[in-house]
Amino acid sequence: MTAFDDNAVERLTALASEFTGFSRDAILPDAIRRAAARLGSPEEVVERAARGDRAVVHALCQAVSVGETFFFRQPEHFRFIAGTLLPELTKGGRQVIRAWSAGCATGEETYSLAACLLDLSPVRVEVLGTDLLERNLAAARAGTYGAWSRRASGPMLHDLFRENGHERVSVADRLRKVTRFELHNLLEPAPGEFDLIFCRNVLVYFSPDAVKIGVRNLTHALAHGGAIFFGSMDVGGPPPGLAPAGPGELQIFRHERRAVPRPKPPDPPSAAAPMEPKLRAPEPVALHLRALVHIERGDKKTAAQALDELTRAVPDYVPGILERALLHVRNAEPTAAASLMREVLRRTEKLPLEEVLAGPEPLPVSFYRDSAQTFLKRGAP
Ligand SMILES: C[S@@+](CC[C@H](N)C(=O)[O-])C[C@H]1O[C@@H](n2cnc3c(N)ncnc32)[C@H](O)[C@@H]1O
Repeated sequence: MTAFDDNAVERLTALASEFTGFSRDAILPDAIRRAAARLGSPEEVVERAARGDRAVVHALCQAVSVGETFFFRQPEHFRFIAGTLLPELTKGGRQVIRAWSAGCATGEETYSLAACLLDLSPVRVEVLGTDLLERNLAAARAGTYGAWSRRASGPMLHDLFRENGHERVSVADRLRKVTRFELHNLLEPAPGEFDLIFCRNVLVYFSPDAVKIGVRNLTHALAHGGAIFFGSMDVGGPPPGLAPAGPGELQIFRHERRAVPRPKPPDPPSAAAPMEPKLRAPEPVALHLRALVHIERGDKKTAAQALDELTRAVPDYVPGILERALLHVRNAEPTAAASLMREVLRRTEKLPLEEVLAGPEPLPVSFYRDSAQTFLKRGAP
């Protein structure tokens, strides 16, 4: 393979940041170096990247992207749809509910949305999943999933699969019929207008300027009466013109109702900046969030130090043990990962499965046990 010097890697990193919106420090130079070396000489790859050659742009985007996802991630979002949003939308006389899962990775979020809406909506449902990477969309369209994607992050709120007795299962046809997937970059105008927009765990990687562009495009696509759902670290406050709906930590936003006078809220952190770790969270969760920021920015070494600090401070904080195991998985250290997965099982064996453990996402004991058991049975995804 061709050796890429620091200048070429620097130039390609800048271009990858431009294509994806990722902040430069969320891009791992080694990932860029590896991807580029497969494509040709440094001069040729830099030149092709600079003129937007499709294959090179795709390879760089793929090197940068993080695709972690699972079904019914953050169940409170689905409960908000069922309990508040959908009844309001359908009361308003809509004939169709349109939902968009922006940055859908391999489709788990999109099909979860489709299942929730199909089960509960009295009117027609259309769900669009979009992502930057054709490879993710191909997996989403195939709609077959192994045990790792199906780790129980909570109760499976709605039926998703056509059971076939095999380890890999297929998404039910009724969900496929209302779902489609398209290539889309969040830095471009939205592909339509939507009543529900999920854009979760995507903007956290973006530079402040790219967050602004992404948030503006998403806000323009929000239909009157609809709602946008972000992940817990994606935005630092309500996007311009939107107001929080539901508990603040859910990061759900709707159009401001201008008729109702509101007391001026305290100055929120700028929506243009990705959320810094919420240091007001309980101590272990705050330390964990700090480690996650390093993981998401690709700095595994500092992440490992932060997680070690977390374990020393709070040895029985189970989400931190699982995070350390997953970091070993990413570093291709299966023995260390397996030992920590066993520790997860040991520390949770006496806890009720439905007990929810505090962490960056509140998840039940069953999620942690299921993750550890799945890994120990079959290895990493
Ligand atoms: C961590 S996954 C999140 C998946 C899902 N939303 C969830 O919360 O489980 C982030 C996804 O965002 C996609 N992505 C990154 N930058 C993007 C961009 N500029 N436009 C569209 N998608 C992007 C990545 O390809 C990846 O699949």
